[in-house]
Amino acid sequence: MDARQPSQTADGAAIMRALHQQLPAEARILDDPIATMLVDPQSDAFKARVSFVAQLPERVRLRLTNFVLRSRYAEDCLAQAVQDGTTQYVVLGAGLDTFGYRQPAWARHLSIIEVDHPATQDIKRKRLRDGGIEIPDNLSFAAVDFESVGLEVGLRQAGFDSSRSAFFSMLGVSQYLASDALDGTLEFVLSMPKSSEIVLSIVLPDDLLPTDEAALAASYAARFAAIGEPWLTRPTPDAFAARLRGMGFSRAVHLSPDEANKRYFSGRTDGLQASLQEQMIRAVV
Ligand SMILES: C[S@@+](CC[C@H](N)C(=O)[O-])C[C@H]1O[C@@H](n2cnc3c(N)ncnc32)[C@H](O)[C@@H]1O
Repeated sequence: MDARQPSQTADGAAIMRALHQQLPAEARILDDPIATMLVDPQSDAFKARVSFVAQLPERVRLRLTNFVLRSRYAEDCLAQAVQDGTTQYVVLGAGLDTFGYRQPAWARHLSIIEVDHPATQDIKRKRLRDGGIEIPDNLSFAAVDFESVGLEVGLRQAGFDSSRSAFFSMLGVSQYLASDALDGTLEFVLSMPKSSEIVLSIVLPDDLLPTDEAALAASYAARFAAIGEPWLTRPTPDAFAARLRGMGFSRAVHLSPDEANKRYFSGRTDGLQASLQEQMIRAVV
């Protein structure tokens, strides 16, 4: 992508999280009051997204939950890591992620670093300012392009301590990275002290998806390529988890849609389900 332009896909993800907040509180997978404050319902992007979603077949629309599920799953894993003593949280490709601005009490002792292109961070800071949302003391920004600037350098400048374990999330990002940049990021996580971990989403290849989801993936891929954010990497979950173990991670676990449905979507009456297109992987050093 053109690092000088703010990411439009980050805006799209934020809009999807904001739309999710229209569900009654008890029906939300992710309770995110900040999400609605970072997007403008009058903007063309917001209106276009609403009409895009409305035109999808119902079966596909009900599975369009990856934008909230990935944050929810990562934050649940983070909560566990914090209980086990982790004090650093790095949000890779943070976009308009809101965790830092609605952090629960258990996160207060974390040092949170948001990593993204500077142009996307500038837009985020502006929207935070416009929304009257303060940047908390325990949050800082690292301007890094995974394709060129070393993550280690960028994080060090933002106060990251590589001698202490850390939790990394990388949500809705891996598909935009060439495999070298993705490997470089994973190698960096792997260089961290034991018990550090990364939770990331991957977009599956079309041949692992039912026809309707593959059609949605094809339309996303075409749209994102046209706006300069092409999808470059789409691994299969099993092969990717095996690759992580091969690299040296002690554990690499795939949260399958069945498991995600059991864990987060059971007992619903509205038919909402875990996404098939984008799925979650957790890897521990
Ligand atoms: C689809 S958005 C996801 C944002 C956020 N994680 C979320 O879940 O809403 C992808 C993000 O990855 C960032 N990104 C993509 N390629 C990048 C790169 N090479 N270096 C740094 N950030 C990158 C984009 O700027 C954008 O914010």
